[in-house]
Amino acid sequence: MADLSKDILTLREKKAVVEKGGGEAAIEKQVAMGKLTARDRIHSILDKNSFQEYDMFMKHDGRDFGMDKKDFPADGVVTGTGTVNGAPVCIYAQDFTVAGGSLGLQHARKITKVMDLALKMKCPVIGINDSGGARIQEGVSALAGYGEIFYRNTLASGVIPQLSLILGPCAGGAVYSPALTDFVFVVEKISNMFITGPNVIKTVLGEDISMEELGGARVHAEITGNAHFYALNEKECFEQVKRLLKFISLNNREKPKAIKPKDPKVRNIDEIVPADPKQPYDVRDIIKCLVDDSDFLEVQELWAANIVIGFGRMDGETVGFVANQPMVLAGVLDCDSADKAARFIRFCDSFNIPVVTLEDMPGYLPGVDQEHAGVIRHGAKVLYAYSEATVPKITVILRKAYGGGYIAMNSRHLGADFMFAWPSAEIAVMGPEGAANIIFRKEIMDADNKEFMRQEKVKEYIEKFANPYVAASKGFVDTVIEPKETRTYLLQALKLSVSKDEFRPEKKHGLPPF
Ligand code: HXC
Repeated sequence: MADLSKDILTLREKKAVVEKGGGEAAIEKQVAMGKLTARDRIHSILDKNSFQEYDMFMKHDGRDFGMDKKDFPADGVVTGTGTVNGAPVCIYAQDFTVAGGSLGLQHARKITKVMDLALKMKCPVIGINDSGGARIQEGVSALAGYGEIFYRNTLASGVIPQLSLILGPCAGGAVYSPALTDFVFVVEKISNMFITGPNVIKTVLGEDISMEELGGARVHAEITGNAHFYALNEKECFEQVKRLLKFISLNNREKPKAIKPKDPKVRNIDEIVPADPKQPYDVRDIIKCLVDDSDFLEVQELWAANIVIGFGRMDGETVGFVANQPMVLAGVLDCDSADKAARFIRFCDSFNIPVVTLEDMPGYLPGVDQEHAGVIRHGAKVLYAYSEATVPKITVILRKAYGGGYIAMNSRHLGADFMFAWPSAEIAVMGPEGAANIIFRKEIMDADNKEFMRQEKVKEYIEKFANPYVAASKGFVDTVIEPKETRTYLLQALKLSVSKDEFRPEKKHGLPPF
């Protein structure tokens, strides 16, 4: 330390002051809640020694309510750049120990500065939210700051991946930044997101509800679908972030980085689907037989579980999977599962990730609740997302493909590049029993033994229509394959699709029912 110039020492002292954030007591309070500090969070996500902090010395310009006498280190948000898995990212973390991480105009400008940088340099941006919301003393300036963030979230959407970690409170209009991003991560007992908090709800509606019950991690992972990844603690959350970033591309001009291919560890694909079409199974077991190393990263695992979405690799390249889940509600499409699938397909399409669809579903969920909740509007999103997508799109019909579901789940008619079906596929307007009851109603009614006649007609319908060969005879299905051939067929289809070019009519943007 002997030869360090005075200037360097001054710099170090200044940095040390800022790095103390809101001071020891505030940090102790933060840690007691199971939370890391903003800088520790950043260091835990980024590659070792890769973080470079910017704008440490930026100051708020609040003048009212005694703000002119207050110094908020780094203005309550830590921003900068670094690498994750060796690839560049821009990052910011709100520092709750400094004025509750509240957002004033300069705090917001620090955030928008790294967002602008990420957009210009075309790398992902990671935002860590831990804040009491708009800095009350700054009034409309704080609101302006939020607006400037939302604007950039929108500009960056579909250009660079945007990840939001909710590691503390994220309340009021502040929730709309995460909501505009691609992936939201929540942590048990740490995350809270809501538009109006328990106090407002109590005042306006007289209802008692805790913060956790209203907008805790589990609520957003399971009920609202606002969160894509749920973790029990911050460490697990950071591992999820790193894992996700390995699967996705840096921006919309690049493909995700390929890794060394590996064969699946699980291979019992022939034994998974039960012979009885009414028996459920876990479609994730099929996915594990298809992807490299049987490594599948499921997204929104706990919400709308009747559809499974997520990333795997085939021959080392990332592939997005969309699969009906027969284990939950027989894998039907409903409002939530339609939203879940459509958003994921659009992400894959934006970031050059081929989509493999595994189909086994009896159609859209019937019921007054669904109709009144807008299943028409929500369901249309799936049709829109598949039709709009120009990335390679491959479908494998495993078992049921009935009615609107057959069309919606990336059928040939919506532009599937490859359509494969297993011998167990049943491609029809509806299930054999319903169909037989309608088209053979008269014969069944007139028969002496109605039940016998019904069963005969069901059998007749199954033989005629509930199989893949009618669709194959019309060219709607390219070929019928054995389950154990599926990975080979997918690999070849993906290889063929490497230089796929497909064009859509020029337009400013569509009018999807989003
Ligand atoms: C200024 C704030 C603040 C805020 C917290 N602080 N929120 N300062 N503006 N919004 C300060 C506190 O005064 C306190 O300062 C320090 O941060 C820590 O806060 P505590 O209340 O001691 O922490 P805790 O008990 O953990 O409670 C956390 C909290 C609570 C639940 C988030 O602070 C809270 O309810 N804050 C207000 C939330 C809110 O109503 N925000 C505005 C939402 S409207 P000292 O100096 O005592 O340490 C909004 C509109 C956005 O955000 C619209 C965008 C379109």
